[in-house]
Amino acid sequence: MNKYVTGDVIRRLREKKKLTQEELASKIFVSSKAVSKWETGQGFPDISLLEPLAKALDISVIELLSGEDIRNRNQCSNMIKGKFYVCPVCGNVIQSIGEAVVSCCGITLPPLEANPMDEDHLIHLEIVEDEYFVSLSHPMKKDHYISFLAALSDQGIQFIKLYPEGNAEGRLKINRVKKIFAYCNRHGLFQTDV
Ligand SMILES: [Fe+2]
Repeated sequence: MNKYVTGDVIRRLREKKKLTQEELASKIFVSSKAVSKWETGQGFPDISLLEPLAKALDISVIELLSGEDIRNRNQCSNMIKGKFYVCPVCGNVIQSIGEAVVSCCGITLPPLEANPMDEDHLIHLEIVEDEYFVSLSHPMKKDHYISFLAALSDQGIQFIKLYPEGNAEGRLKINRVKKIFAYCNRHGLFQTDV
């Protein structure tokens, strides 16, 4: 198993909190030598210490595990900047409107980076009344298919789950939509601006 928290992260968070190694050690009832060892990569805290360590550093356990202090950064979130996360284990899809640490099946998920469309992942749009009829000429096989379509507007998200036995198509309301996405389980997220 990988180290769930690295020495660099502990040192960075401790220094940010303006604590000495001794001060951090005394807060979680370990020796300053132990903290020094963690920070220099000669060991890492027992899992039972994660909670007290996170508390002493004034962050959540999940923030400690990710090495990021994510609080208070999403006050000006904009739906258009929304991010998608896909769990490679169970296929769960999660969407956030700001910075987030997202984990599923025990894995911290990186946000998907949207690619510009390519030949095999061209998103066709046809306007039908107040909707976009979205379609792709893409395989829909169990091991390679478009697993969802989504549209982002400044007000929210529309999401359509697709399945290998179906077609790579769906209808999304035009209303204020700025970006349309298609996610291929093998090649990732593709985006077109509208
Ligand atoms: Fe693909």
